[in-house]
Amino acid sequence: MGIELKGKQPVGVEIFDKIAHKYDSISSFLSLGIINRWQRKLVEGLESPGKVLDLACGTAEVGALVKEKAEKVVGLDYSLSMLKVAKRKYPEIDFVRGDALRTPFKDKSFDTVLVSLALRHFEDVKGSLKEIRRILKSGGEVRILEVSIPKNPLLKSLFLFFLKRVMLPIGKLRSKEDITRHLYETIVNFPHYEPFLKEALKAGFKKATYTPLMAGVATIYYLKG
Ligand SMILES: C[S@@+](CC[C@H](N)C(=O)[O-])C[C@H]1O[C@@H](n2cnc3c(N)ncnc32)[C@H](O)[C@@H]1O
Repeated sequence: MGIELKGKQPVGVEIFDKIAHKYDSISSFLSLGIINRWQRKLVEGLESPGKVLDLACGTAEVGALVKEKAEKVVGLDYSLSMLKVAKRKYPEIDFVRGDALRTPFKDKSFDTVLVSLALRHFEDVKGSLKEIRRILKSGGEVRILEVSIPKNPLLKSLFLFFLKRVMLPIGKLRSKEDITRHLYETIVNFPHYEPFLKEALKAGFKKATYTPLMAGVATIYYLKG
């Protein structure tokens, strides 16, 4: 299932690697099915996506949503445990173990790159955008789904209150402080909205737009190569 990765797994991989066998049920239960709806929104209107990369695919729910329409779907993830679950569920999809910052693909390999709820976990967001641009064909499309912070001041305060005063203390109580702190910090430190579009254009994309979902609790970014 692809290349050997040496050294310690980044924290953004480790926390998912440990729960790979129950990742689908946890994410669907905790989000009351909302994540599945966001993922369907991510691929909405992709009629002929050509050769698709599901980057940081996890259990490949997003890749599976486009496999009938695509010429080919490849799923890449750093976590071997996630990939094993994905392969069991979708044996017809090709999976590769790799790092999103240094993928094993040649320049201009894909027509479409999909990144669902993963980009903020990469150690270098700017570097990952450059890598995605490198492996995307000219005229290709990238869609990125990410948790975001609502722009509306009231909703923003409520959301940040929830993260800080509910999620972090619960993590502490359940001795999962490292995980909840990582989740909190990646949401708070991500360059949401316009700053992200700016980074995408700097990385060489020709066009970058976004659509907030659920008043900005999540956002889909659309990039053109
Ligand atoms: C929240 S899960 C999302 C999985 C899937 N895309 C989804 O929508 O359910 C984040 C995934 O990113 C992967 N990941 C984190 N950092 C990575 C990296 N540098 N390279 C490849 N995969 C990475 C993790 O292993 C994990 O499977």
